[in-house]
Amino acid sequence: MQSLAGKRCFITGGSRGIGLAIARLFAAQGAWCTLIGRDESTLTSAADSLERQGYLQSHYTAAFDVSIPNGWEKLVSDTKLQACDILVNAAGVSQNSLLFNTSKCDVNSTISTNLTGTIWGCKFIIPKMMKQKSGCIINVASLLATHGGRGASVYAASKAGIVGLTRSLAWEVGRFGVRANVLLPGYIKTDMTKDMDKNGELSALIPLGRLGLVREVADAALFLAQNPYAHNCVLNIDGGLSAT
Ligand SMILES: NC(=O)c1ccc[n+]([C@@H]2O[C@H](COP(=O)([O-])OP(=O)(O)OC[C@H]3O[C@@H](n4cnc5c(N)ncnc54)[C@H](OP(=O)(O)O)[C@@H]3O)[C@@H](O)[C@H]2O)c1
Repeated sequence: MQSLAGKRCFITGGSRGIGLAIARLFAAQGAWCTLIGRDESTLTSAADSLERQGYLQSHYTAAFDVSIPNGWEKLVSDTKLQACDILVNAAGVSQNSLLFNTSKCDVNSTISTNLTGTIWGCKFIIPKMMKQKSGCIINVASLLATHGGRGASVYAASKAGIVGLTRSLAWEVGRFGVRANVLLPGYIKTDMTKDMDKNGELSALIPLGRLGLVREVADAALFLAQNPYAHNCVLNIDGGLSAT
């Protein structure tokens, strides 16, 4: 297994939820993390909460909207962030409305954040990894990418796009030493799901009887980051919900 000590990780959505849990676990393994999100102060307190291995290590933040290429261009030209060994694309927004009731603005922001933002992340970071002849991309999709969901048509479409993107990249970049994998979480306890299981009806649908924990998704990301033969993995982490 590859050690994460000294590895440079860029984590979108790293200020909260699943992205932050991945950053915490990777930092605890000795990785240097750059957290990306829109809100500067949430990013700063998230970065401050990460473990540091030795006094020299510092984590970074970059506040920008992942759906806008300018933010990525600035990031890749930042001289203190030249290397990137692991890119985690976890920034995302959800949807809870039937398609005919979904505003044009919500359609656009769901696709542009979840799918286009992930495409930009890969497009801008892959050249760095190709130059190094190594790297690992971990895209965070969703179980809804393969199963769909009522009131989640645009979200599911954005996440299915991420699966297609990752599989195509696996073809494109493997020969340059870059691995690409995608996680398909089920329902995980975060801000995104805080109102979804108030009376336990959602938990009752899940074979393991509960929502997942962010740390459990982070563990799956760690496996993908460390296993040198993990490439084109489409990894469910859903408490068995995909079996139903
Ligand atoms: N929670 C679940 O049950 C679940 C299940 C399957 C998949 N997922 C996926 O897992 C990922 C993380 O979800 P989560 O539950 O951890 O969500 P969360 O707690 O709501 O966190 C979302 C993160 O994304 C960032 N973000 C949102 N829009 C952004 C944008 N346009 N540009 C940059 N950063 C942006 C947020 O920071 P700012 O708001 O400050 O920008 C925040 O850091 C998402 O892609 C989500 O679709 C979640």
